[in-house]
Amino acid sequence: MAAGCATSADMTPKARAAELLAWYDRHRRALPWRARAGERPDPYRVWASEIMLQQTTVGAVKPYYERFMARFPTVKALAEAPSEAVMQAWAGLGYYSRARNLHACARVVMAEHRGRFPDTEEALRALPGIGAYTAGAVAAIAFDRPAAAVDGNVERVMTRLFAIEDELPGARPLVRERVLGLMPQDRPGDFAQALMDLGATICTPRNPACGLCPWREPCRARKAGTQESFPRKAPKKAGATRYGAAFVLARADGALLLRTRPAKGLLGGMAEVPTSEWRADYALDGAAQDAPLPLRWQRLAQPVRHVFTHFPLELSVLVGQAPVATQAPRGMRFTPMAELGEEPLPSLMRKVVEAGLAALRPPPSAP
Ligand code: ADE
Repeated sequence: MAAGCATSADMTPKARAAELLAWYDRHRRALPWRARAGERPDPYRVWASEIMLQQTTVGAVKPYYERFMARFPTVKALAEAPSEAVMQAWAGLGYYSRARNLHACARVVMAEHRGRFPDTEEALRALPGIGAYTAGAVAAIAFDRPAAAVDGNVERVMTRLFAIEDELPGARPLVRERVLGLMPQDRPGDFAQALMDLGATICTPRNPACGLCPWREPCRARKAGTQESFPRKAPKKAGATRYGAAFVLARADGALLLRTRPAKGLLGGMAEVPTSEWRADYALDGAAQDAPLPLRWQRLAQPVRHVFTHFPLELSVLVGQAPVATQAPRGMRFTPMAELGEEPLPSLMRKVVEAGLAALRPPPSAP
């Protein structure tokens, strides 16, 4: 190499940002919430997508996002909607406190900001359900503010690029600092989205496509051949599996017994079939005592399994049938089968209902 010629490791932040942006201009993903090149993004659409994308993937969110936007096309429409409609549109996405916060946030934006999202990270953070990540993402993407939006993808890209040895989550402030250190003043929104796309499509957790990466030269982890070992993470402690019983009760007219979970806490405000407590030491033998009505309950051989963030759950499904005149116990309701689609049933409960109804259905008669 000629004397005085800068190596890629000496690249200035400006040059590094330019490499990434040039890559983004060629390879950016077309996403339903993303403004096309040269178009102004709609802060409402950006904000809603960021809330939906927390803890899940672009692929999982796309169909929900399209339906959600068709139903609530503006922040005003969302703010004015009844909460059941919002929960129902969200059902299946999980993390239901996010849907409640989303709705609360829309109402605050209408009531206190005249229907316009504030355009600074600080003011965004003051809104319900908006934490550091979302405030940074919305400030950068919707308003082109030089703000850092550090999610799992960005953590992976930056810890590899700089070979950051500190463990997450403690390393997050340093990652943030590194992002801000590279942030170009003229295209912060594109830079933030370019980092997300790079993390999602090239700098993947396993088998990263380093040969296609615009940062293959300056990446310190790649140079050392250790890219897959980043980010460093403190080992996670898994919660103990919890067990419980779920009761699928069909009335002779086909209506199903449901109730609404308490507004606060896990799956708050969502619909469910009645269940026992969920405990690590739940004794299935006594499940009938937890049943909503004293009937003949039949336990299915296969439990329904679900993994929450903090613990795995195994629900045994008990099915029962009741005469048409049966009244729902206090705090519960019989929902006609045709209206089941309007109930905000989380995916766990959809699995339970499906398993229970399949068992209750009479086998097809022989031809
Ligand atoms: N992940 C989180 N936010 C995203 C966005 N705006 N675009 C693509 N992927 C994302």
